[in-house]
Amino acid sequence: MIPDDVIEQVRESADLIGIIGEFVELKRTGSDYRGPCPFHGGTHRNFAVIPKKGMFYCFVCHEAGDVFTFFMKKLGMDYPTAVREAARRAGITIPERAGPTGPDPREPLYQAVASAADWFGRQLHESPEADGARQYLGSRDVTLEQAQVQGLGYAPRGSAFLDAMKGLGLREDVLLQAGVTVKREDGTLAPRFRGRLLFPIHDLRSRVVAFSGRILGAGEPKYLNSPETPIFHKGQLLYNLHLAKHGMRKAERAILVEGQFDVLRLTLAGFEDVVAPLGTGLSDDQAALLQRHTPHVILLYDSDDAGLRATFRAGDALLRHKLRVSVATLPDGEDPDTLVRKGGAAALEGVLKHAIDVLERKIQILERKGFFGTLPGRRRALDRLLPTIRAAADPITRDLYMSRVAEVAGVRKDVLEREVDPKQQPTAPYRPLPPVTALPSSAEKSLLLVMMAGEPWRSKVVEAIDPDEIEFPAYRAVFEALADDAPDRLDETAARAYEGLQAEGLGGGQSTPDALFEQAVNWLEARRLDRAIERINREIPLATEDEKARLANEKKRLAAERNAKRPTYGIIETARRKGAPGT
Ligand code: GTP
Ligand code: MN
Repeated sequence: MIPDDVIEQVRESADLIGIIGEFVELKRTGSDYRGPCPFHGGTHRNFAVIPKKGMFYCFVCHEAGDVFTFFMKKLGMDYPTAVREAARRAGITIPERAGPTGPDPREPLYQAVASAADWFGRQLHESPEADGARQYLGSRDVTLEQAQVQGLGYAPRGSAFLDAMKGLGLREDVLLQAGVTVKREDGTLAPRFRGRLLFPIHDLRSRVVAFSGRILGAGEPKYLNSPETPIFHKGQLLYNLHLAKHGMRKAERAILVEGQFDVLRLTLAGFEDVVAPLGTGLSDDQAALLQRHTPHVILLYDSDDAGLRATFRAGDALLRHKLRVSVATLPDGEDPDTLVRKGGAAALEGVLKHAIDVLERKIQILERKGFFGTLPGRRRALDRLLPTIRAAADPITRDLYMSRVAEVAGVRKDVLEREVDPKQQPTAPYRPLPPVTALPSSAEKSLLLVMMAGEPWRSKVVEAIDPDEIEFPAYRAVFEALADDAPDRLDETAARAYEGLQAEGLGGGQSTPDALFEQAVNWLEARRLDRAIERINREIPLATEDEKARLANEKKRLAAERNAKRPTYGIIETARRKGAPGT
């Protein structure tokens, strides 16, 4: 009743450890899990769950099976109910028995995309227009045979694609919904991909669901993807996972690269465990998907700044799903494609062998930049390491991370634990720095109103205040424009803010420019001092005894200065409350 491939998908996606873990406590031993047997009872850890195989086995009572058997034997379900229960937990929808609902309504979309993939593949071989694409492949050291094995295709310009699809009897609305055509402004259809080399994108059941098309020369965009469709959700798929999932099981690792060409090159070089997100950061769903197929991910991104940022973002997402995460570092200027093209599989093996844990890689970079040499540097380094510690959902990894960071940042582990999880602390001694607010502060607004009252106020404000002290971006723009006497060069948002201020004016004589000026400048200075004190508070836990004494002095000085700002507030506040405008 339930299609075999759906049953397979459910079996694959089931979280066997989580499900059995609801009945007995399982502990990891190597790649398996052990616990007391939920069938014959007993207290010894004679019961093994082997997630790689999706199986369980008791060495004493010899009960064995997969997730479905488990539900049947443990909860007395029949087979279809067990499959449905496992599917429900894995978030997979099983179409209700064919009959009232009929077949999957998305079937025509799968058919349309499959037909398109076949046709594009043939064009790459046969079409004279594909000459450019064939040459392009040659220039990148990919033979036509290799391209064919990988299912690559060519999308010609012109109407040949639409004619061919019509010839196959595919409906226009289906082609549009499948994302292979686009609607022109006049309502007619055009092929989405024109003059591009196409990489087919498969779902976990190896059905083509979308394409990613590379431009053959310079131009924008370099890669054009199918849009989101009922059968293609970019953030829930990984490129090449349909094939790599088998290799990942065997190798107990996945290699995550940035692009399709990297996957192609590594696949051709014999790597069977390579996947890529589809031109975006690694989504939470994609991390969860990886977790279902492997315990360990090696991130193999470019080594430039953008690549590193993407690496650490992906690393945090993977840590949140309890994966072990390593980072492999490519030589400067290389990507996996160029490295393997020049040096073959051996070159990449070398790079992979030197992969290090993601936290260790972060520390290495901070060390090389000299962050650990000074107290403020250590504070900033700690701030960059904290998100990775917090991301580590696996308790053992998290504990190891805390020990390691405590060591490099020179901070006691219990202090660090409180920073990682501020809730643990009954009376937090230091609040995090307040985020730069996206909302305008009334002091910033007052200053602008004062400036708008004309000279001499404008000059007074410009003299007293630096533009960066105005944190609300639109107000900073207005400030700079007013300071330069050029309010006409504001962008749209700033112009709107400026108009708002003009409409508001100084508020019907409630305060004079003088009073407002003094109040606002005081407020900004107080905020500056607050921030400085906050920074010191955050450095104190990392400081040596000598440094602590120095910081305490510094803090006392700043606090005194800060307190001196208060009376001014008071006077103005009181004056205002009494209804006496200005002072
Ligand atoms: P090649 O130049 O073909 O080797 O690609 P690359 O993988 O070296 O390119 P790059 O590092 O620029 O991009 C990495 C990945 O980001 C690509 O494989 C695409 O998946 C994606 N990407 C790059 N450019 C674009 C773009 O313009 N649009 C979209 N949607 N994705 C892109
Ligand atoms: Mn490349």
